[in-house]
Amino acid sequence: MQLILSEEVIRARLRALGGQISGDYRGKTPVVIGILKGAFIFVADLVRQLSVEVEVDFIRVASYGDATSSSGRCTISKPAEIPLAGRDVLLVEDIVDTGNTLDFLRETLAAAGAASVRTCVFIDKAERRCRQVAIDYAAFTVEGGFLVGYGLDRAERQRHLPAVYALAGEEAE
Ligand code: IMP
Ligand code: MG
Repeated sequence: MQLILSEEVIRARLRALGGQISGDYRGKTPVVIGILKGAFIFVADLVRQLSVEVEVDFIRVASYGDATSSSGRCTISKPAEIPLAGRDVLLVEDIVDTGNTLDFLRETLAAAGAASVRTCVFIDKAERRCRQVAIDYAAFTVEGGFLVGYGLDRAERQRHLPAVYALAGEEAE
């Protein structure tokens, strides 16, 4: 495993990102929606850097693909519980890779009548993007590799690591 983002680097970046997001939502009360499970740590750290009031909710998406990437077919297996009609929604995702998951959610929430939908991702992995989904906030851009830690898993393990690591070739399989 190779260290990609240390705890210190993550902390400093989230402080800056929280300031930026707070400025953009000044006077509003957005609904921050974390996408389970990967975003749980990012959401917890990000909302503590915000100076605007927010409501927090989570959704869970089932996507049909293999273990390490998603396909275009997604369904919401746990919807948001806060009514979203007329609300400013900030969708928070762990990592955007192909873009399939985020693209699907953006459209679904806009169709649910949200006043605005913005996306915030912990890691923008541009390497395999196949849908040009708009990303409003990205904490980090990483070239490639399979990443674990800070909520990101490989087969449900390693989410608990406080920093982000890339798996070496054989570990990633
Ligand atoms: P997308 O729909 O291909 O953009 O898929 C994004 C989802 O795939 C993320 O929410 C992750 O759950 C998973 N994913 C993509 N790349 C990685 C990675 O490097 N490590 C762990 N999970 C990943
Ligand atoms: Mg995920």
